[in-house]
Amino acid sequence: MDTSGVKGIAEYSGVDWTETTGARLYRKARKLIPGGVQLLSKRPERFLPRQWPAYFSKARGCEIWDLDGRHFYDTTIHCVGACLLGYADPDVNAAVQGAIDRGNMSTLNSPAEVELAELFCELHPWADMVRYARAGGETMSVAVRIARAATGRETVAFCGYHGWSDWYLAANLGDHDALDGLLMPGLNPTGVPRSLAGTALPFHYNRIDELEAIIDRTGGKLAAIITEPLRDVPPQDGFLHRIRELADQIGAVMIIDEISAGWRFCLGGAHLTLDVEPDLAAYSKSTSNGYPMGAVIGRREVMEAAQNSFISSTYWTDAVGPTAAVAAIRKMEQVRLSEHTMRVGAKVHDGWRELARRHGIHMKPHGQYPMSHMAFGHGEKNLALQALMTQEMLDRGYLSTGAFTVSLAHTDEVIDGYLAALDEVLAVLKQALRKDDLQSRLKGPLPEQGFGRLT
Ligand SMILES: Cc1ncc(COP(=O)(O)O)c(C=O)c1O
Repeated sequence: MDTSGVKGIAEYSGVDWTETTGARLYRKARKLIPGGVQLLSKRPERFLPRQWPAYFSKARGCEIWDLDGRHFYDTTIHCVGACLLGYADPDVNAAVQGAIDRGNMSTLNSPAEVELAELFCELHPWADMVRYARAGGETMSVAVRIARAATGRETVAFCGYHGWSDWYLAANLGDHDALDGLLMPGLNPTGVPRSLAGTALPFHYNRIDELEAIIDRTGGKLAAIITEPLRDVPPQDGFLHRIRELADQIGAVMIIDEISAGWRFCLGGAHLTLDVEPDLAAYSKSTSNGYPMGAVIGRREVMEAAQNSFISSTYWTDAVGPTAAVAAIRKMEQVRLSEHTMRVGAKVHDGWRELARRHGIHMKPHGQYPMSHMAFGHGEKNLALQALMTQEMLDRGYLSTGAFTVSLAHTDEVIDGYLAALDEVLAVLKQALRKDDLQSRLKGPLPEQGFGRLT
């Protein structure tokens, strides 16, 4: 690994991370905001309890400044993949600024809605029509509503994670851990009407036999079959094509959720590279690079059903969302973004493998190049190793947990710096393993896994 030309690694080893302005503000937030934050994946407890900086004062590219002005490279979830072009992209920001200056909302509608719809349909020739929402979970709720309206059926079968809505959490009403293994364990459906039990039936990715069993059990009366195009592993044995066939056989709507995968593997949904055409696809997150925007795109026969159901919301009409999306999509095309995410993701995987070999640490890459993570192979010591790595990387100016979501801002220089810092940190981890003193090196509790109450 050539680390010449690497930018200097920050020296924050003297910092008491439990007493930064961010850590103190978060302690206050926990008293004012149930759960502390709005998105489980941004809970400081999931990264490094008590020590995580928690809040930012500025973000640009893949760089973040905390409330005390300390500088970090974001080499972790990168805002759960919502800013594929990097934070505060100047071109998207300029377009958004224009929309703000012209007045973001009015009684009349934004023409950007139509421009974006045309762009979506051009990029996905199988789709004829588009409806909008803003967040990912609500966009999926719109997709499911349209599918139920189009088929006149209630039950859906799904795999993967699709947000916080009632239709999805209903899967955990009967069998409390049905959603475990689909992405995140322990999602609690308290507050979801019991009467929805049995309306959302989960199966695992690449387990077509589980879907077939659901179809047998329900007599094929499904409104929709829902899947992500891929997440950790690619489809095997024609998984997506088999879903397509089964959906056609039983008259269900096939929905592909591109909220996380979209735009990273090619310009548009990952299903374009996997050569499968759904009836509906859902987008949000990086579609608009940091500004709220969601879209359901689909075939005319299915999309028209949206007219038979009341699906409507005031802030789904703001101009910033579609303006940001048009600007982001045009830029992703111009910079050939997916070539970058694949190449840089491969470089991160190679770096992890080489460092693991050099330090004699069991550590392996998982997932696809644009959104992957590494996992330690030291049994019950894995979580402590991850925590110590995060703690040590913080001292060196990197937000780093093992997950790595690539953006355009992750240049070769940034990756070289990240791997050089990780090289130092793995030496520390190796020493801790040798001395068997992992726990005593940790300055706070172990990271939280899955979903749980804070207090
Ligand atoms: C595939 C998928 N669908 C839906 C969602 C929910 O999106 P949001 O958090 O914007 O509601 C996510 C979020 O991670 C996702 O990955």
